[in-house]
Amino acid sequence: MFRKLMVAMAAVALVACNEQANKKSQAEAQVEAAAPTSKSVVVYYSQNGATKKLAEIFAKAKNADAVELKLVTAYPSTYDSTIAAVKAQRGSKQWPALENARPEIAKYDTVYLGYPIMFGTFAPPIYTFLDSNDLGGKVVVPFCTYGSGGRKVSAEELKTLEPSANVTLAYGISNKRITAENGAEVATKEVEGFFADLATGKTDEMLVGGYSEQRPLAAEDSAAFAEATKDYAYLGLKPLSVATQVVAGTNYLFVCEMKAFGGPATQTNVKIFKPLPGQGAAELIVVEK
Ligand SMILES: Cc1cc2nc3c(=O)[nH]c(=O)nc-3n(C[C@H](O)[C@H](O)[C@H](O)COP(=O)(O)O)c2cc1C
Repeated sequence: MFRKLMVAMAAVALVACNEQANKKSQAEAQVEAAAPTSKSVVVYYSQNGATKKLAEIFAKAKNADAVELKLVTAYPSTYDSTIAAVKAQRGSKQWPALENARPEIAKYDTVYLGYPIMFGTFAPPIYTFLDSNDLGGKVVVPFCTYGSGGRKVSAEELKTLEPSANVTLAYGISNKRITAENGAEVATKEVEGFFADLATGKTDEMLVGGYSEQRPLAAEDSAAFAEATKDYAYLGLKPLSVATQVVAGTNYLFVCEMKAFGGPATQTNVKIFKPLPGQGAAELIVVEK
C-alpha cells in the first residue's frame, strides 16, 4: 500500500515537473521571440490588406524578413462570395493552393504567423501553409486581424495542430482599429506592449487581471457599450454585467449574452476601451471568452 502510494506520488511529482518544464519552455520561447533577431520571419496571408499592414509592423519591429502567402486562385472580390468560398473549403477541408506554400523557413528559429480570422479561426490559406511546412521546434508567434475576435481560439487551434512547435501568446487587433487613420500608430504601440508581455512570459490568464469585480451596469457603462458596439448589431449583444480597469481612460470587460446572426444565445466577454474625455469615442477591442 505504502509502495503504491509512493509510486503514485512520484508519478504526480513527475507530471508536475513535466508541466513545469513545458511552462518554462513556453515562457523561454516568449522571451526569445521578444528579443530582436534577424533569425526570424513574418509569414502572413491577407485578403484585403489589414493583416498585411499589421505584418509590416511586426517585420519592422523585429527586423525580420517577410513572406506574404499568395493564393493561386484569389478569393472572390465580394464579402458574401468569399464567405461562400471559405465555407466550402472548410466543409470539404480542401485547403486552397498557394503560389508559395513552402517559403524558405528552415533557417529561421521564430515564425511570426499572421492571418485574418475567418469563421472564428485562422483563414484557410494558413492550413495549406501548416500542411506544407515543418514548424517543429520553432517558436511560432501568432498575430491576427478580425471583425470582432478570434485571437485566442485561433492560437489554441495552432497549438493543437502544431504540438511540436512552441506557440506563444497571440496578438490581435480589430479591422476597424487597424484600418483607421491612426491605425498604424495604434497597432505599433500595442505591438510594443505585446512584445513586453511576451518577454515577461505573460499568459492570457494573467492579461485579464486588474479588473474590479463584475457588477450591474450604470448609465455610463451602458452609454460606453452602446457607442462601441453600434456597428456590431449582427452580434446581438446584450450586456449583463461589467468590470472596469482604470488606465489612461477606462477598460471595460462586459459579460454579455450574444445571439450572433440571430443564432442561439451564448455568453461571451466584450472588451471595450473608452479614452479620457475629449480624446475620442469608446471602441470595441474584442469579443471573446
Ligand atoms: C470569409 C470571411 C470570414 C470572416 N469571419 C470572421 C469571423 O469569424 N470573426 C471575425 O471577427 N471576423 C471575421 N472576418 C473579418 C476579417 O477577419 C477581418 O475583416 C480581417 O481584418 C480581414 O483581414 P485582411 O484585410 O488582411 O484580409 C471574416 C472575413 C471574411 C472575408
